[in-house]
Amino acid sequence: MSIARRPRRLRQNPAFRDLVAETSLRPSDLILPMFVVDGLNEPRDIPSMPGVQQHSLDSLKRAAHEALDAGVTCVDLFGVPREEDKDATGSVAWDPQGILNVAIAELRQEFGDDLIVMADTCLDEFTSHGHCGVIDDQGRVLNDETVELYQDMARSQARAGAHMVSPSGMMDGQIAAIREALDEAGHEDVAIMAYSAKYASAFFGPFRDAVGSSLEGDRRTYQQDPRNFRESMLEVDLDIEEGADIVMVKPGLPYLDVLAGAVERSSVPVAVYQVSGEYAMIQAASQNGWIDGEAVMLESLTAFKRAGADQILTYFATDAARLLK
Ligand code: PBG
Repeated sequence: MSIARRPRRLRQNPAFRDLVAETSLRPSDLILPMFVVDGLNEPRDIPSMPGVQQHSLDSLKRAAHEALDAGVTCVDLFGVPREEDKDATGSVAWDPQGILNVAIAELRQEFGDDLIVMADTCLDEFTSHGHCGVIDDQGRVLNDETVELYQDMARSQARAGAHMVSPSGMMDGQIAAIREALDEAGHEDVAIMAYSAKYASAFFGPFRDAVGSSLEGDRRTYQQDPRNFRESMLEVDLDIEEGADIVMVKPGLPYLDVLAGAVERSSVPVAVYQVSGEYAMIQAASQNGWIDGEAVMLESLTAFKRAGADQILTYFATDAARLLK
């Protein structure tokens, strides 16, 4: 047969395939989200996220060493307070003795600048009602009042030593307000990774177990409607205007169109978050022998890079980095 174009020529062996590969995945692309729990002496498994643990301060440090040894250079910390320390405003979030701030300080002390320490800047783990902000007597989440509390939280995280804060509450104006608060307090070197396009997603299910969430109901008045794309482009534009150093899209695989759209218009790096439900699905199918877990892990992470992601937050970070090394 005379076939003018034979694309298979460039696929005939691994060397050819490597030669023409358009995308590469490196350990330093990966960011490991980690959970640290107040009062825990031993790490505790999270049943809906096989392979992920709630950490004590000691096991957090050990796991961070493992990540760094594998080539992962950034971690994202989530704090889980004692149930009795939760209140209506989430005030333990900006208490220097609060678990998240203590964990930030300990990791900075342990790693200096070798590991980038990022913290989640949101109140949902700390409020008694589980919302990402303060609520009025009718249960409505108040925007501007909440943003003021995010300023306190971000300042306390910077004081504890965070290199980067990551506001995930989807309040309007949060990036500009946090930038201003950090700068006023002399933390102009602390970076902001903005959860810019964050959807009200059922894929966050296992995360709620991981942080012992108190939420009843949903977050649809502040997180985005999964039916919308254009709205995400607005959120990305606003966050860049407001001073975000990195913007992020979340969840990951079901929202690759949003990721690619953000990459197209962004003048700053674009991260993506492979969330708890995405992780849980891969692990569950793998444990059942229904898919090759390692292959699907690497394929999913590669898909994010192909769609243009610069950084990937993933619970697979350490495992994937070890395989890539
Ligand atoms: C909120 C926050 C959530 C996640 C990250 N930050 C939960 C939510 O918005 O309900 C989800 C992460 C995941 O599912 O892995 N602080």
